[in-house]
Amino acid sequence: MRASFKFISVLIVAIHGDPVSKTRTFPQDFLWGVGSSAYQIEGGWNADNKGESIWDRMVHTYPDKIVDQSNGDITSDSYHQWRRDVQMVKDLHVSTYRFSLSWTRIMPGGYMNHVSTAGIKYYSNLIDELLRYNITPMVTIYHWDLPQRLQELGGWTNPEIIPIFKDYARLVLEMFGDRVKTWTTLNEPWHVCEYGYGVDYMAPSYDFPGIPAYLCTHNMLKAHAEVVHMYREQFQKRQRGRMGITIDSSWMQPKDANSPEDREASERALQFYVGWFAHPIFSKEGNYPKVMIDRIRNLSREQGFGSRSRLPEFTEEEVRRIRGTADFFGLNSYTTYLVHPNDHNNSVNFRVPSFDHDMGVVQTRDPNWQGSGSTWLKVVPKGLYNLIRWIHREYDGPEIIITENGVSDRGGLEDYARVDYLNSYLSAVLDAIEDGVNVSGYIVWSLMDSFEWKAGFTEKFGLYHVDFNSPKRTRTPKISAKVYGHICKSNSIDWSYRPVLDEQQLVAMAQLPADDDSLAKASGAASTATIWSWSLVLLMVTLVGLNTWHC
Ligand code: BGC
Repeated sequence: MRASFKFISVLIVAIHGDPVSKTRTFPQDFLWGVGSSAYQIEGGWNADNKGESIWDRMVHTYPDKIVDQSNGDITSDSYHQWRRDVQMVKDLHVSTYRFSLSWTRIMPGGYMNHVSTAGIKYYSNLIDELLRYNITPMVTIYHWDLPQRLQELGGWTNPEIIPIFKDYARLVLEMFGDRVKTWTTLNEPWHVCEYGYGVDYMAPSYDFPGIPAYLCTHNMLKAHAEVVHMYREQFQKRQRGRMGITIDSSWMQPKDANSPEDREASERALQFYVGWFAHPIFSKEGNYPKVMIDRIRNLSREQGFGSRSRLPEFTEEEVRRIRGTADFFGLNSYTTYLVHPNDHNNSVNFRVPSFDHDMGVVQTRDPNWQGSGSTWLKVVPKGLYNLIRWIHREYDGPEIIITENGVSDRGGLEDYARVDYLNSYLSAVLDAIEDGVNVSGYIVWSLMDSFEWKAGFTEKFGLYHVDFNSPKRTRTPKISAKVYGHICKSNSIDWSYRPVLDEQQLVAMAQLPADDDSLAKASGAASTATIWSWSLVLLMVTLVGLNTWHC
């Protein structure tokens, strides 16, 4: 029989390469997690007197702004299915679940005068259930769903938001801080400010380039800092938790690595995307990056704004108050762009003024990069390696938690493209750790398929499939859920681990609509699965053959 095993191993190696040498291990205390956000998964948009958020308002008033005219009214129905969600998190063997709180579920009008007991109870139950299974809740206080009433006051462009956000944060710290030990204040302020106010891409859907996004960031940074100071002064000692912020960026790769202009464009783009938020908090000197201050001041003057820059100024006191207000650097990153400088004639026609024009960088893609279910998301693992190394160098080695990384497809359970994405991006993270970058955790986006903002339900990021045609919103693990569970359990990447669909998955798949299995077909992943199935068949035949022969 020994001979037959040897033969089988040789056969596997011949077909798939040496699996053992492909296993790589993470540091022992590495944090593994999975994430979601309230508006994307909860549904129950007006359940138990929940108030209206800017996303509720936008999807109901302008359904055409969403690719499939859908909305988050029910979405993955986590408002009712949170127990099942926790089971799914548990089955992934992660130690951390990152989710966000819906402001209007807790304070329907945004203010303290009306606090919803049902809202508090919902999150309290969720937190308790997670803790029951030793899963650490990591809570995002704000993930894009501003109370609509506050938007009517100008939202994040009105400095009045700072004390109001602080009131909301105080309440959630009082309610949940005894059990939640990891907090982030804001998710992706770049998206909130530029895509919400600069260009009409996300709620509240302004189309006002070059001015309100800078006001929005100014207020968000101050609001963030006030909440962190409050936490440190009034809660941290007693509650013994940590608080950071989540900043997002793609890697900005110089189009021509040998061109000094392209390299400068890359550096400038990183300062505009990352430094806009990170420099005030994580750099030694604080404040916005010098390149932003100078460029926007000069351009404002040229554009006739006089001596007042469109980028607001911090006072010395504010610079000091914001600097150092994070216990860790939360980073969301998915992809890479190629960058080169815009020319003096602005021949790419950026609007004037605008964030893009102020930055003066043109972003393109390499047509050879592998795609995904989203046009903006190309698979370039080395980009994540470069980005975290840049953050490490720029801010003197802060602790980085990758709070989001993942890939989209168009549906289906055989998501081998996602498996490959996770393995290759995690290899890049490990390369950076081995080079001395302080990455302490990785949180995959996302736990389950959900409402993908403007893309509605057309793009799926989940490790778990959700059947949106079924009133039960049935959840089924995809292949990637098994693989990620294996990664978290073994604390290592194992390229040779490529499970095939099990019986439960096959039954679930048979019930899905035909168009919900396009990933496998589109990405060629089916052929990988098929190769493996054939390998198995071959092995079985060999085994039977060998046994017969031995007998
Ligand atoms: C956001 C998520 C979103 C993901 C994929 C991130 O920018 O935080 O809410 O689903 O990207 O688009």
